[in-house]
This record gives sequence, C-alpha cells and structure tokens, in this order.
Amino acid sequence: MTYPKRLIEVDLPIKRISAHARREKSIRHGHISTLHIWWARRPLAACRAVICAALWPDPSDPLCPTAFRDKARELMLQWTNHQRQSLLSPESRPRFDAARLKPKTFDDDGELRGALLDFIADFANWDNSTVPEYLDTSRALTQAAHQALGGASGTRPLVVDPFAGGGSIPLEALRVGADAFASDLNPVPVLLNKVVLEYIPKYGQHLADEVRKWGQKIKSEAEKELAEYYPNDSDGATPIAYLWARTIQCEGPGCGARVPIITQLLLAERKTSRVVLKCVPDATQKTIRVRVLTRPKSEEIGEGTVKRSSVTCPICDYTTQAANVRGQFAGRKGGCHDAKLLAVVTISSDREKKYREPTDLDLEIVERAKLQITKLAAPKMSAIPNEPLPYLRSIFNIHLLGVSEWGQLFTPRQALLLATFAKIIRERAESSKTEPSSTAVITCLGLTLDKMADFHTSLARWIHQGEKIGNTFGRQALGIIWDYAEANPFGNVSGSWDRCVEYVSEVIEHNRCLANAGSIEQASATNHPLPNDSASAFVTDPPYYDAVPYADLSDFFYVWLKRSIGILHEKLFQELTSPKEMEAVQLAERNKLYAYKTRENFERRMADALSEGRRVTIPSGVGVIVFAHKTTQAWETMLRAVIDAGWIVVASWPIDTERQGRFRAMDSAALTSSVHLVCRPRENSDGSVRTDEIGDWRDVLQELPRRIHEWMPRLAEEGVVGADAIFACLGPALEIFSRYSRVEKASGEAVTLKEYLEQVWAAVAKEALALVFKDADTTGFEADARLTAMWLWTLQAGDSYSQNADGAEEDDNADDTEGGKGGKAKNSGFVLEYDAARKIAQGLGAPLEDLASLVEVSGETARLLPVAERTRYLFGKDQEESPLSRRPKKKDQQLGLNLFEELTEGNDVDATWGEKTVQKPGVTVLDRIHQAMILFAASRSEALKRFLVDEGIGADERFWGLAQALSALYPPRSEEKRWVDGVLARKKGLGF
Ligand SMILES: C[S@@+](CC[C@H](N)C(=O)[O-])C[C@H]1O[C@@H](n2cnc3c(N)ncnc32)[C@H](O)[C@@H]1O
Ligand SMILES: [Zn+2]
Repeated sequence: MTYPKRLIEVDLPIKRISAHARREKSIRHGHISTLHIWWARRPLAACRAVICAALWPDPSDPLCPTAFRDKARELMLQWTNHQRQSLLSPESRPRFDAARLKPKTFDDDGELRGALLDFIADFANWDNSTVPEYLDTSRALTQAAHQALGGASGTRPLVVDPFAGGGSIPLEALRVGADAFASDLNPVPVLLNKVVLEYIPKYGQHLADEVRKWGQKIKSEAEKELAEYYPNDSDGATPIAYLWARTIQCEGPGCGARVPIITQLLLAERKTSRVVLKCVPDATQKTIRVRVLTRPKSEEIGEGTVKRSSVTCPICDYTTQAANVRGQFAGRKGGCHDAKLLAVVTISSDREKKYREPTDLDLEIVERAKLQITKLAAPKMSAIPNEPLPYLRSIFNIHLLGVSEWGQLFTPRQALLLATFAKIIRERAESSKTEPSSTAVITCLGLTLDKMADFHTSLARWIHQGEKIGNTFGRQALGIIWDYAEANPFGNVSGSWDRCVEYVSEVIEHNRCLANAGSIEQASATNHPLPNDSASAFVTDPPYYDAVPYADLSDFFYVWLKRSIGILHEKLFQELTSPKEMEAVQLAERNKLYAYKTRENFERRMADALSEGRRVTIPSGVGVIVFAHKTTQAWETMLRAVIDAGWIVVASWPIDTERQGRFRAMDSAALTSSVHLVCRPRENSDGSVRTDEIGDWRDVLQELPRRIHEWMPRLAEEGVVGADAIFACLGPALEIFSRYSRVEKASGEAVTLKEYLEQVWAAVAKEALALVFKDADTTGFEADARLTAMWLWTLQAGDSYSQNADGAEEDDNADDTEGGKGGKAKNSGFVLEYDAARKIAQGLGAPLEDLASLVEVSGETARLLPVAERTRYLFGKDQEESPLSRRPKKKDQQLGLNLFEELTEGNDVDATWGEKTVQKPGVTVLDRIHQAMILFAASRSEALKRFLVDEGIGADERFWGLAQALSALYPPRSEEKRWVDGVLARKKGLGF
C-alpha cells in the first residue's frame, strides 16, 4: 500500500525549529518544565513542529487528498493575510519576514507546501504557542488532514507516546488538535501527565486560582507549626539561608580537631564588595572558628579545606586522605547531624542581604528540630522517608557518605519542614478525596512540595553569583556536596513555598489554551495497553542506554508524593518505591543490585517497545522516534530494532543538537544529536506485517548514491552540514533498505544492516566531500586531505573543537572520587568517535591505519592532530641540527609541541636554524600546507617565502586550492584558521 506522504517525510525547516528549541530553554515562566523536575525533557518547539509535520500530508504529493489541499490553501491564505496585516500594525509582533508575505495564491502545490512548512517553523516559536490564530489554524489543519485521510467524523487523530516522561509530546499533540494517549512506567511522570493532559484542559484558570488560594492556606498552617524554627533576627532581618559544612575529625597526629569541609569561601560577589568566609584556627582549644568577612583584603581570602575529597586541617595542616574522609562517614547517614553551621544569610526589610556568624539561638533551634523529628508520625509509614537509596556508581555517590535512605538527604530542620508540609497536604487530600476538582488542586500542591524539596536538601548549595540557593537536581545525579545551604521556605529566596506555588500556577495558566483532554496510563512501553491499529501517529522519545536512571532518581519525589497525595492516587503510590524491573535503562555497571539491567536488556526492551508501537499504529500511520545516540554502534543497534519491529525508515531530522547537560558531559560529544527518525509501518492494509518483499542488493546499492546526491545539497542549502547532515541522510538512505523485509545478494545471502550502513557512510562521505570541494577537483587531493576536510566538515555542526571546548567540570567538589575521570585538560585537537571516524575514512578510501601522522586513535576516540602537534613529523629531519637535539626525549607528541614552541620563541633561539628553509618539503599537499602554516605561526617569514617561492611549493595550484578549502573548514577561532589565512594572505604578494 502507498499512502500520501506526510510533510515530515519530505521536508522540515530544522534550522528554524532548532533555533526556537534552543531559545525555549531560557523560558522560566509557564513552561511545563517548571511544573516539576523530570529529566531529559524534549523542547516543546521540536515536538510541536514534528507532530504537525507528521500529521499533515504534503500537498504536492500526487496522492494528497484534494480536500486537504483545498482546506490547507484556504487556511494558509488566511494566515498569510493575517501576517501581512499584523506587519502593517506597528504595535504587533515584528517577527515576520516581509519577503515571505508577498501576496500569494498558493495555486502552486509546492508553494503551498512551503507555506505549511513556514507556518510550522513560526509556530515552533514559544511566543506563538498560545496565540489563537496559530492554535486555530493548526487545529483546523489537523482536523482537515484527519478527515481527508479517512478518520471518522467527530474524531481526532490519536498520537501515542509510551515513554511520555514530562509530557512534552502529548501536550503538543493536544495543542495542535490531536488526541493524546500518554503512558510511562514511572508513577511520577504519570502524575505529571495527569495534571497537564487531564486537569489543566478540564479546569483551566480555575485550577490556577485554586492552587494559589489553597497554597496560601497551606502555607499559613505550616508557618504556624514551623515558626519557631525560622525566627527573625532581633533587628527584624529574616534569615533566608543557613550555610553549613559537613565535618570530619582531623587524623593528624595528636590533633583530632573537628574540621568543617569547606569548598566554597566566596559567599557574595558584588560590584563593589565581596563577602567571604575565613577559617580561624585555635591551636590550643583545637577549634576552628569560621568568620564572615565583608570587603576582605586579598591576603585575607584563604582556601577551602578540601581538594578532591582530601581534607586539610587549618590547625595542624595535616591532610586526611579521601579514602579516610569517606571512611569517617560510615554510619553517619550523611553527617548532617554533626555538620557545622558556618554563617547565616539574612535579608532586611529594605531587601539588603547580609551575612553573619551563627548565634547560640541558631544552634539551639536545630537541636529542637532534631528532637521534634523523632516525634513525627504518618499513617502506615514513617513521616520522614526511610525508603532505601541505593548506591549507583558515579551517579548516587552521596551513598558513599553513609546516606542509604532518602530521608537522610535532608538536614533535621529540612526533614521537619517537608514532613510538616506533607502532613498538611495529606490532611487536605483526605478531606477532598471524593471531589474531583479538589483532587486536582491538592495534586498540584503535592507537586509544589516536590518542587520545594528540590531546593531543601543537603545537596543544595549557596550560589555566590546572584546570592541564591541552587537546587538538588541541577545535575541528573546525587553527588557529594560538602557544604550546603539550608533555605528558609517562608523567606524571599529560591525554593520558597510561595515561589514554588507561583511556578506551578503559571504553568497551569499558560496551558489553559488546551481545548481537549488527553489520556494517561501507567504502563510499560513493552506491553502497550492500546489495541492493534488505534493510533494515527506513534511519536516518542525513549530512554537512552545508561544516560539517565529515571526510576532511581524519581524515588526522591516518589517517597514524598506517597506521603503528601498518595491517598488520592493509590494505584500509583502503593509500592515502596517506583517500579524498576521493566525500566529500559542500562545500570548493570553501577550496582550489583541491577546486574540484570545490562546493555542487552536495554536493547531488548527497546525492541519490544518499538514492536508494540508498530502494533498499535494504523497501517497508514506514521512513527517518529527520537534518538540521541553518540556511538555509531548504538545507532546500528537501534536502527536494527526499528527495522526488525516492522518499520520502514523514511526520513531523519536532527533537531536541537546539543549536549545533554553537563552530567558526565558526554565523553565525546561530536556525534551527539537528537535525531527524529521518521518511519512507516511495513504492513499490509489489514495491519499484518509484510514479510514477502525481497530487495536486490545491486538495486539498493545503485539507488543509494543517487538518493544521497539528491538530499545533501538540499540540506546544505538550509545550512545543515557536518554530523547533522550525516544524520539527516540516514533516513532517506534507510528507506531504500528497510522498505524490503529482506535484501539479498545474488547468492541469496541476506545483507545485514551493518553491511548496508557501511555503504551509507561511504556514500555520505563521498557526497559531502564533493560539496566541500565544490570548486575544486576532488580526485586531485590525496587521502590525508580528503580525510582532514571531511573530518572538519563533520565537526562543523558539532562544536567539538576541544581546544576551546568546555570539557572541564567547574566545581572541584564535583562528584567525588571513585577514581573519577580526571576530567580537566583533555588533549586538544579535533575529536570524533573512533567508529564514526573509521567509517568516514573508509568511505573516502583513506584508512586510518595509513594516516598515523595525522590521526591519533585512543580507545573510543580518534583525534585529528592539531597542526602544532605535527611539527616534529613535518620538520623532524632537522632534529639533529636544531637546538632541540639537546632536549630530553619525552613522548613524541610532547616533542612535537616542544619543537613548535622553540620555533615560535623568536628568532634569537637559534638564528641559523630559524632562517633555514624547510629541509624536506612534505610528501603530500596537506603536509606542505601544514609546513607553511607552522612557518607562518612561528613568524619565519623569510623561510616561508623561500619555501613557497624558491622551493616552488607555491607554484602548485592544488596547494592554494586545498588551503582555501581548509580556511573554510577550520573552526572560526582556531589557531589553524588564523595560520592558514596567514599563508593565504601572502599568496598575491609572492606573485602566485
Ligand atoms: C527520555 S524520557 C521521556 C522524556 C519526555 N519526552 C519529555 O520531554 O519529558 C524517557 C522516559 O521513559 C520512561 N521509561 C523507561 N522505561 C520505560 C518502560 N519500560 N515503559 C515505559 N516508560 C519507560 C522513563 O520513565 C522516562 O520518563
Ligand atoms: Zn589537625
């Protein structure tokens, strides 16, 4: 069966959509991400665009129903008219490109397609996401498409997402007029989706008003109970944060002092002043006083007491090593109970923040809180969560400080605070259990408490820029934080109850434009609750191998939700913690507890989920699956699963390529992009999977380069280059292969996907090279030049030039230890994943093994050497004559750099050597360019001139052609770019 193509199968304005997606990340108010933490959320801009383009047919497809074309034309005329008018009115949003608004008739179907894609790109803008013309137009288009494609009247197309998470995809489905069926294995996102897909469409503004109203009531009640724990200072100032440090006992001989573990001395950095902490040791008393200094002199600013988890005592100077430090925490449950209060931040009525040393009262209150929490109780469970918090290597490192229950993440006062709010919310929940709208309100307040909890743990830090409190889940991990800040929930500071209520209410308000409600269920994607052939579109963003341990992270919230609103959602919160077993996440390497969560287990679950997705999708439906895999091997595995699940891959769109947070900051980020893989069920019209179509390998191979040749220039026109373009080619390339149930060689032997993908990479590399050297004859360049050019091109979109990349973690106290990664100072150069590099190289007929002087392979990565590192190779013959011969021999690379440094140190190092010309011109054109670049960089202009003129190197046209191409490919601010441009600048002057 053939069906009219959807827009997403033929085109998508990915650059504009990506720009909107990136901008969306800075939206702080009304965005669903501010309703509650959930990890790895997809930008709404991308979801919205993708869903529209997946639901609407391409009007220029001959099979496109006329009814849709007519309706689309009418709507696009209206829309563009409207744009024109709003352009004319000066107060309107001046965002439209006038050229696009020339009156058009859209009689031409291609033009109509263009208008729809324009609309999609504009609609991706956050600012347009609630504007009625956009909403109405999109909903009318969705309805027209649904009807024209055979949907029953009075129904809407159903979009299914079985890995719904924070709910971006189903929310956008509802926004554009589809129905949504969302499910997730985890109860927390199920609840989030309930709010977004059910409560908000149903109760709208009223819900926001009630949340604010009840939020206030709950606050008053809690404030009454907790007032004595957050008293104002005698001068009327309100403490907004208490700054603490965990402590150890110094193991220095005869010392034994209690040492606060301090990483952060700087408390405030203002234009005119600073506030810092200073440790003042008292050797006789064996005590350490911590003083607060305002406007310190620079010699008064000392160092913290901890470096890489080793603690140095300010009294005796002894350093207790990391392992011993950790050893001291055994049985101390995180050590919040014997932490040291360092300072208190207050705010006066004129809003000035001040810092003071702790008083006896401050300490006494904490003792009272310790006592009080022992008296708390909750029905059927402990008031403070005692559910287990497991160790997950380099993710839940806080476990190493003896934290083994969730409640131990909190200071005594924080535990008291959260348990008190949970109790008050629970009482409201009990009395509103039977009233659906109150259930909605109280549920939202349960989420508000979670939001607050994120700021009230012993992992929240004081942030000196902005003088505020950071949250716990800035990272997708619970690392070791030595010094932390305890906020006042009633103060005017980040994480206060009022602010959390406001965030939640704003999300509700912002989304009240949703017209219809969606459905949400708790289910495993591997066993989908819907019957066969019920969805028009399967759009999903599954987990990615070991990137995020969702279920374990979610328990932080699960345990509080259980205690606050658990009785309103009994089915979701009846377990000890969230379900783990069926979760598709690789965790086996992090704790024996999860020995079964292997890589293979993950892949099996994904394969099952993809089959289920195909099963529930109608034969004429479409699938969009988001993948963000960083290795080509992971790509192969997932593509294999997609095809085995009975999908035909038809397109692939990289959108919003980015590094996913800093957490284990993507060891090699080069090929990390979020690719939307577009698929169609490989099914007969009755929904059965087609198994009978055999493809001929020769035909497939013949069609492949043609297809790539068609796509690549189109992508380049849109500015899609490098790794993005490679990924954008995967879809079209795979269509040729995956439309068959099996591709066979003449011998009858089946072709594996792996084998095919090798061909795809080669075809892509060749095509890309032709683009890179569009003005030059590519066949004239040697292997090293081809590889260098392709390598640099691949990285163009990936921003992976690690000389200025941000590989290093900023806080020294990050993670802790466990043999860490070393982090900092990576090698410089241009880094690609080894396997990707290998495939590119092979495709270009430039095998990596033959290019050892150009590329360094180490483990999983391959590095195109920076030109400076090639100095020795290129000038090496001069060794004996150069001053370098006297240097001790270190590693090769080191020598290369040393030689380079010598060269650039100035002519007086060794004038004779310096003014010599290059002893032996490089073998290849690339080598000779690099030699010229190095001479330029070292300011050896005479030598450069001799090299180019006397040696005749500059007479070779290929030299300048390649230099020109490299100038366009080297990253803008790189040394290489500067040098090659320097060489090019001499071309004319030297008479070439
Ligand atoms: C990448 S996240 C989805 C994020 C979502 N698109 C968003 O924008 O917030 C993947 C989700 O898959 C869920 N998950 C993991 N294993 C699952 C399974 N077997 N069945 C259903 N959901 C699962 C996780 O709980 C997580 O919410
Ligand atoms: Zn000591």
